Amino acid sequence: MCGIVGYVGDKKAQDFLVSGLKRLEYRGYDSAGIATVSEDGEPTLIRAKGKIAELEKKLAKAKRDDHVGIGHTRWATHGEPSEVNAHPHQAGDIYVVHNGIIENYKELKKELGGHEFKSETDSEVLAALIDSFYGGGKYDLADAVVQALKLVKGTYGIAVVSRKNPEELVVARSGSPLVIGVGNDETLIASDASALVGHTKRAIYLNDGEVAKVKKNSIEIRTLDAEPVSAKVEEIETNLSAIQKGGYEHFLLKEIMEQPESLAETLRGRVDAVDGTVRLGGPGLKEAELRKIRHLIIVGCGTAYHAGMLASYYIEQFTPEITVETVIASEYRYRQAYIPENSVALIVSQSGETADTLACLREIKKQGVKTIGIVNAIGSTIAREVDGGTYVHVGPEISVASTKAFTSQVIAMVMFGLTIAQAKGVKNTILQPYVKEIAKLPEEIGKVLEEVKKPMEKIAKKYASYEHAIYLGRDTAYPTAMEGALKLKEISYVDANAYAFGELKHGPLALVDDRFFEVALLPMGVLYDKAVSNVQEVLARGGHMIVVTNARDFDLPVEHVVKIKSELTIFAPILMNLVMQLLAYYVTVAKGLNVDQPRNLAKSVTVE
Ligand code: AGP
Repeated sequence: MCGIVGYVGDKKAQDFLVSGLKRLEYRGYDSAGIATVSEDGEPTLIRAKGKIAELEKKLAKAKRDDHVGIGHTRWATHGEPSEVNAHPHQAGDIYVVHNGIIENYKELKKELGGHEFKSETDSEVLAALIDSFYGGGKYDLADAVVQALKLVKGTYGIAVVSRKNPEELVVARSGSPLVIGVGNDETLIASDASALVGHTKRAIYLNDGEVAKVKKNSIEIRTLDAEPVSAKVEEIETNLSAIQKGGYEHFLLKEIMEQPESLAETLRGRVDAVDGTVRLGGPGLKEAELRKIRHLIIVGCGTAYHAGMLASYYIEQFTPEITVETVIASEYRYRQAYIPENSVALIVSQSGETADTLACLREIKKQGVKTIGIVNAIGSTIAREVDGGTYVHVGPEISVASTKAFTSQVIAMVMFGLTIAQAKGVKNTILQPYVKEIAKLPEEIGKVLEEVKKPMEKIAKKYASYEHAIYLGRDTAYPTAMEGALKLKEISYVDANAYAFGELKHGPLALVDDRFFEVALLPMGVLYDKAVSNVQEVLARGGHMIVVTNARDFDLPVEHVVKIKSELTIFAPILMNLVMQLLAYYVTVAKGLNVDQPRNLAKSVTVE
């Protein structure tokens, strides 16, 4: 996902622009640039393909102490990664940075014959469109931006600076986040609050359809229809240490190891282990509405989808007469699916900005279905558009591979299910075991992580040379296996796929040979014996197996057994997932790959 920063104030703009872009690096990008304007209107535009370090090499020669400017990290969508396609884009006297996609950029480009286009990007078309209103002098910068945005179809988060007015920036958003940091004699802009941390704790989150004229001591917000908007200043939750690595080599290991704390944050004030009940205020559903629910649709992508799948198995276990379906957002948004009466949709997203999930949310809302967000990023677009929601509060998840968010998303959705079950009068004796295990989970996660971290580092080294892997599980261990396979494939590039154990004989068993290793999840329970015989089927064909189990008596001659020592049984798959997170991490480290920013991927996929 691209990153935007902007600055107007008494300090040197370039300093914040560069430091702010560095804070946003984790979101994935392939080029970067900044534009600043001096007090006498002299512009400086510097862009570079590749990492911000490349940009800094060029900046070192530019030595500007301008006090207004904008910056951008670009994750290519239209036009390959290159300097000429990098933002800011210039048109006439203005410079523009843009996140999002201008769907009608081709039609607009045809109307802009007067502009000599240098790039292949939709964003340059937007810059030229704004200039077509601004250049003639009929409109001031903010009005020119409004006129242009009225013609735009698509999504945008933009910041604009003009050499004719080096005391102000104009920013606007529709579908791509923008936050305004309120400082002392300075105002800072960013597409993600983490860039503001350490500069100010006061932030204004722009809403879709809003445009702001920003100076160092003033912020004027209005809608595209010129309706004034009163700015709501919010406290930025994130502190600086939360976005540093905290002594770990990689964000990913930090985020795996902090799951006891992050899950505790998710549970804070929401679980009463004594009387075995949960209390979720966010969804905002009254008892009567909860009682009426007959169908849940859980929507997400990637890890969020897996979290939904796992949660759906649990919710079915303790909530009578409810059907639960989990759908992949990019598929569901184009289906003509019928949504039955008395449905509620859970919209799951760590970033709260995933384009496909957001599109699904909007489609589902059009059908009048109540939507509940299970989101991490505060103030994100999905969090703002759902009818109600539960923030998972795991803090910034910087590494592209999602770990702590998964754990908390699953439990947050289970708690939502428990809330429904409580309203429906399900006996406390049925619900209490779930609540008690949830209350214990943070501590148990901490114990398991300490127990398995070292062994997993050793085991991972033995499997780092494999190019293929099969993950296996039954029941709640099956979506967990799917999540484990995704973790390994997305950071170590091993071709890892998950199958329900029972599916082995219907095809996947043919794969088993020395090219593959297998990870099998065997939680104790009614299906444990079936899973043991599935392990034997794989062993008989020469499988190289890692078995993860909480059973004390597992004794088949597999290559590795990773024992989960915990009295938790219901949520044993959550504990097993920790083993797979660490396996993926240490295999990637052994392969010397980029753990936190794997190739081709971004932390938040804000384009289709
Ligand atoms: C998970 O490790 C991946 N980074 C990816 O699948 C991610 O879960 C997916 O893009 C959804 O992101 P979201 O939760 O921010 O919507």
